[in-house]
Amino acid sequence: MLRFDIITIFPEIFDSYLGASLINRAQKKKLIKVKLHDLRKWTPDRHKTVDDRPYGGGIGMVLKVEPIYKAVRDIKKLKRVDKRKRKIILFTPRGKQFDQKTAYSLSKLSHVIMICGRYEGVDERVARHIADMKLSIGNYVLMGGELPSMVVIETVARLIPRVLGKPKLLKERITKEKGFIEYSQYTRPEIFSSKKKMNWKVPKVLLSGNHKKIQEWREKHKKVI
Ligand code: ADE
Repeated sequence: MLRFDIITIFPEIFDSYLGASLINRAQKKKLIKVKLHDLRKWTPDRHKTVDDRPYGGGIGMVLKVEPIYKAVRDIKKLKRVDKRKRKIILFTPRGKQFDQKTAYSLSKLSHVIMICGRYEGVDERVARHIADMKLSIGNYVLMGGELPSMVVIETVARLIPRVLGKPKLLKERITKEKGFIEYSQYTRPEIFSSKKKMNWKVPKVLLSGNHKKIQEWREKHKKVI
């Protein structure tokens, strides 16, 4: 069972995503567990302040280190695991780009704690002293780490045995290098046409029943991720 704990100031963003789809089923089957934590729970003041102005000036607000430190400290206690089986991830556009290989290594863990940045930034001491990993999901700037954390959960969850219906399918598409093979696919009808002069055909070779030829064609139309 892989447990994800998400630290965010917008826990409600996750409701519909986690409640629907295969992610919900994976939770019911006890293959993964996803818990949300409102960062404001770890603020000492009445106003539940999570952010402050940046030292040195500048526009925007910065998430404070103290509530994040306390949240991570308390959440670690919720799952006692060997240090090597746990990773604390900070989402930031300055992080290392998330990819299939990283998803693989995360899928072997027991506990993943994810810190969702917000506003214009996060006190750098979180990156330096709290997070084990800084991840970006791409070279663009989002409003926070909430979507990135959902991207990571989905990518990692589908690598866990029994989350997807067909384990054979998953295995077939994994190469030795632990990449994924994605190739073009077609299904019925053989010719799709909904107006004159339109005939979108399925490549003949796929209808031939010649497995060697089909393999060759797929080899040509694949991408290894
Ligand atoms: N926060 C804002 N933009 C981000 C990105 N591209 N990846 C991860 N976290 C982010």
